[in-house]
Amino acid sequence: MRGDRRVIVVANRLPVMRARGESRTGWEVSPGGLVTALLPIVQSRRGAWVGWSGSAERSIRAFSHEGVPIRPVTMTDAEIRDYYHGFSNRTLWPLYHDAIRTPEFQRHWWRAYVEVNRRFARAAASTARAHDLVWVQDFHLQLVPGMLRELRPDLRIGFFLHIPFPPEELFAWLPWRVEVLRGLIGADVVGFQTFSDAQNFSRLARRFLDLDGTDTELSIGRRKVRVGSFPISIDFQGFESIAERPETIERAREIRRRLGASRKMILSVDRLDYTKGIDLRLKSYEMMLDRGEIDVNRCVMVQVAVPSRESVPDYADMRTLVEQTVGRVNGEHSSPGRVAVHYFRRALGREELVAYYRAADVMMVTPLRDGMNLIAKEFCASRPDLGGVLLLSEFAGAARQLRRALLVNPRDHDGTAQSLREALTMPRDDARQRMAVLRMMVRRHDVHEWAREYLEALA
Ligand code: ADP
Ligand code: G6P
Repeated sequence: MRGDRRVIVVANRLPVMRARGESRTGWEVSPGGLVTALLPIVQSRRGAWVGWSGSAERSIRAFSHEGVPIRPVTMTDAEIRDYYHGFSNRTLWPLYHDAIRTPEFQRHWWRAYVEVNRRFARAAASTARAHDLVWVQDFHLQLVPGMLRELRPDLRIGFFLHIPFPPEELFAWLPWRVEVLRGLIGADVVGFQTFSDAQNFSRLARRFLDLDGTDTELSIGRRKVRVGSFPISIDFQGFESIAERPETIERAREIRRRLGASRKMILSVDRLDYTKGIDLRLKSYEMMLDRGEIDVNRCVMVQVAVPSRESVPDYADMRTLVEQTVGRVNGEHSSPGRVAVHYFRRALGREELVAYYRAADVMMVTPLRDGMNLIAKEFCASRPDLGGVLLLSEFAGAARQLRRALLVNPRDHDGTAQSLREALTMPRDDARQRMAVLRMMVRRHDVHEWAREYLEALA
């Protein structure tokens, strides 16, 4: 492996955001798994990061943050509307997540997507030096590999999709399906979260681009494109070490005391997204309360939801639905000092998040569809005490690896209720044994291994 090659990351978002606080003139590292994984690599491999600042600032000069050259790509308000909110979040996101919401197809969104992808490709081309590795991330930038190859055939180009890649029945809806596939096969390695995502892609590329090849390799003339699954993960040690701190353990105890120490705590943490199944999960819980299968003296649910993409109508609708459901459940079932559902609409800091993970008896992660789902993995890493039971949707990429979780179909309320009962009453030794296996899996396959394996394949 040519470990000395520089690595340029190209992602919709930069790894830094405007610092909070009064002046908002400085930058701080953005939270999140992708940044934790890739920033140290870019740092040690003397690379750079090409991305968008998240706002419509007209011009932001290139700068360095903790030794990493940052190359901001700017967008106008109209481009943010059409490329980001429109094509990325109202066409691709629902289409790639089983069309849980109806994808919208608008020509002018597509045009903005092409235009902004071209800008990212040009920025990458002018940042990369001869023979660098360029690693393009996620669904916002699927045209970049092809555009970049035209500009810079000397580069090794990788692409990784963090979300699911749909089967033919859905992907074929896209009026620009051929263009998207052509963009992706510009890469030398096209990486996905699961084997079935990779297989969907290879089959579609063979069908619509008339390429030769197999599920794992495609041929374009003499050029070979490797297609594979590289399940993303988390910084296991980082989470574990926070979970082991005395302050975290004390904070977890305090959370339990406040909720009522004798009650079982059911926790969910999500971005407030309609793919996450928050509404259905609340309904399953409500059904159990209605039937008297659980009661508020013995159980409490905590739902933490970070606001996300709020100018997209389906997200605003989901927020309304979640808040109405929480209101109804609490109205029907809470009593003084015994709230049925605690709902926090905010992001928690890393330490606080780990304290919640450590406090929970049951962690419910029940998306309708999810590329991977890192929260399930973070929960396992945060339980060095081997406590807690993970209830996980079959439709999260993580379910392929975390086989010892209780796997559920979130649309099946009776099945979900049964699994929740099982989780709440699981004998301690069974739960500990399951958690030990889950932790071993996440420890062994952490985010550093993910990045190493991908870059080895690319180099
Ligand atoms: P997605 O990428 O679709 O949001 P993931 O589960 O893969 O879903 O990743 C979510 C990331 O965001 C995790 O690293 C998680 O810790 C973080 N996160 C989600 N919700 C919150 C929250 N309420 N507070 C703090 N961090 C959160
Ligand atoms: C998912 C996507 C990421 C995206 C993140 C947050 O994880 O795969 O690419 O950055 O959601 O969404 P946002 O639209 O706020 O960037």
